[in-house]
This record gives sequence, C-alpha cells and structure tokens, in this order.
Amino acid sequence: MKPILESPIITDICDMTANMYRLGWDERNGGNISWLLDEGELADYLDLSKTIRNIPIDFDAAELAGRLFLVTGTGKYFKNVTKDPEGNLGIVRVAPNGRELELLWGFEGNTLPTSEFPTHLMNHMARLKADPEHKVVMHCHPANTIAMTFVHSIDDRDFTCTLWQMITECIVVFPDGVGVVPWMVSGTNDIGAATADKIKDCRLVVWAHHGIFGTGRTLDEAFGLIETVEKAAEIYMKIAHLERKNEIPKDQLKALADTFHAVPREGWLD
Ligand code: 13P
Ligand code: ZN
Repeated sequence: MKPILESPIITDICDMTANMYRLGWDERNGGNISWLLDEGELADYLDLSKTIRNIPIDFDAAELAGRLFLVTGTGKYFKNVTKDPEGNLGIVRVAPNGRELELLWGFEGNTLPTSEFPTHLMNHMARLKADPEHKVVMHCHPANTIAMTFVHSIDDRDFTCTLWQMITECIVVFPDGVGVVPWMVSGTNDIGAATADKIKDCRLVVWAHHGIFGTGRTLDEAFGLIETVEKAAEIYMKIAHLERKNEIPKDQLKALADTFHAVPREGWLD
C-alpha cells in the first residue's frame, strides 16, 4: 500500500481547507467539505475491507449505500487540517442499511463527521440525480454573502439576478442561479431537506445569516462557484448604499449568456 497522506485526495483537501481558511471563510470550526470518492482512487492507499468503527446517522441514506466519502470532522478547524489530517478528516462508507457509516480511515480521537453531514448527504443525493458526475459538497461562511442576506430580498430569483448584475462573468459561471434557504436551525435533517430541495436545480445554495453551499464535479468547481458568488456579493455590499449611475442592463445579460453558451434559469431574466 502507498502512504495515504501522499495521495492526491489528501493533499488536495489539505490545500483547499488551508486556502479557504486564509480567505476568511472558515473561522474556528466554520465550514465543512464532503467528497464522493471512487474505490479505484483509494485502492492503492487503503484496505477497503477494514472498518475501524461504525458511526450511526439519523436519517435514511440507503440511496448512497456503499458510496465512499472523504469528510471533514465536526468541531475541527480548517486551519489545522494540513498539520493533522487523520484527526480532522475521515473516509467513510455508507453502510448497506443506510443508517450507519463505516469508518475506514481518520477521525482519530473518536471524532465524528461534520454536524452538517445530513445536509451534505441529502445534497449529494439531489446533485447525483441532476449530474451523475457530481462529487463535491462544500460549505463555508464568506462574510459578504452572509451580509447580503440581511439587506437584500432572499427570494431565489431576486438574489440571483442581483448577483448576475454585479460582475459580467457571474451569469456565465452560475447560469443555474443560487437558491436561498431562509434562516433555520442548522445541523438538522430539516435544513438538509430544505437545502436539497433547492440544490436539485442549481449548484449553489445560500443559508441566510449563516453561509453557503457550493457543489460540483471537483473541489475546484465547488470552490470557484462560491468564490464568484462571494466576489459579486462583496461588490453589492460596497455599492448597495450608493447612488447607482450605471449597470449591466438585464437584456444584455441574455446576450452575454448566449455568447458564452450558458443557459440561465428559465424565465428569470424576463
Ligand atoms: P461542524 O464543525 O460540525 O462541521 O460545523 C461547522 C459549521 O459550519 C456548521 O454549520
Ligand atoms: Zn456553517
């Protein structure tokens, strides 16, 4: 077996969590990531027949039975992942009954997966139906995106259209838009179901007064979506209180999307 700490999976997640921490998106234990892995990616690094311990989950994830995930631990700090991957990360497989996780690596010191794992798993189920190549769910607390939920309508369409108008590339990067879940208690199955209900139609969901979820086929895709929303929200927060003298006309957003072969959410630009 090759050392797992040298696998691209672990080095990539260490780089990503360190980068997100430095961007200020993951204060203290804020934020979590889960990444759907193929057996083939792990076969050289891990004996997949050895379960370290079973971890109960309190909803039915049978749809994902047998699927493998790398996931960040609850209460763990993104800034510390690189110096202690085994203590901050775990690799788990959803058990055949859909009610337990089999821990295959990591989560040393009896660590558990992120408290947002119900939302992560429900998001994975929803995105896999929309895109069979989907792999990553990423959650974090970027300040401008959160700030915007205090001062702007949190209707999905209103919120998305404002972001699209903030930076030319937004409609090209996320033509599928952004869903917004009004404030709810986090860490619950209920917020997971509300998030999955929106994320089935778009790769991004904002949690009002809390943070954002980005999804994608790669870590970079999920990260890039969040990065673009956060930059647009930053511009909105810089100009929201100022007189607006110029802006991108909505009809030109359509022309922009056409030029870059992006398909905006049906009817949202009408
Ligand atoms: P965890 O430490 O359980 O991952 O929670 C962090 C967080 O961002 C909660 O929404
Ligand atoms: Zn959070």
